[in-house]
Amino acid sequence: MKHIFKEGGRPDAPTLVLFHGTGGTEHDLLPLAEMISPDSAVLSVRGNVLENGMPRFFRRLAEGVFDEEDLIFRTKEMFEFLDQAAGEYGFDRSNVVAIGYSNGANIAGSLLFHYKNALKGAILHHPMVPRRGIVIPDLSGTPIFIGAGENDPICSARETEELQELLSGAGASVKVHWERYGHQLTSTEVQAAAAWFREHLA
Ligand code: MLT
Repeated sequence: MKHIFKEGGRPDAPTLVLFHGTGGTEHDLLPLAEMISPDSAVLSVRGNVLENGMPRFFRRLAEGVFDEEDLIFRTKEMFEFLDQAAGEYGFDRSNVVAIGYSNGANIAGSLLFHYKNALKGAILHHPMVPRRGIVIPDLSGTPIFIGAGENDPICSARETEELQELLSGAGASVKVHWERYGHQLTSTEVQAAAAWFREHLA
């Protein structure tokens, strides 16, 4: 998969894996990594799927309607890529924290929904519920930050609460940070994520 890897300044700091939003690239979230954990190694990945030329991490049938078969396939592909990258770059596979926005938050959420120990923790900016009706692996002790917009037309407040309930039900420690805005990623949300990271994962 197309990606960037940057060595970290502190080997025991979690490696950050970055997943951009629809139409983004592996460069988009690099400033967030710098704000959230400047000492971390960073693996930033570009989605392998194109929608009208826009990179994504899995296909969708319509706005908010995921192609479940492709989601499952791409989630496995990403899980295997993380294992392979850990071997290649020599980072600790058990100390990986995802930061994702929108479609990127959804692939990170899907990793948590499908694989035990996929991530040590996650910062999900404006995620949706990736799948319904499946048993989520045990997420005991997994800290998860969700950034949400009260007026987000893509991820409704109700869906955010549903995601929080599903992740908490699997044992994760979930913090939801609400902004008054819509789907956009605001600097106050990133600052809240950074403060949360320092408290739970640094
Ligand atoms: C998705 O397709 O993952 C969500 O609708 C978010 C988006 O990328 O617009």
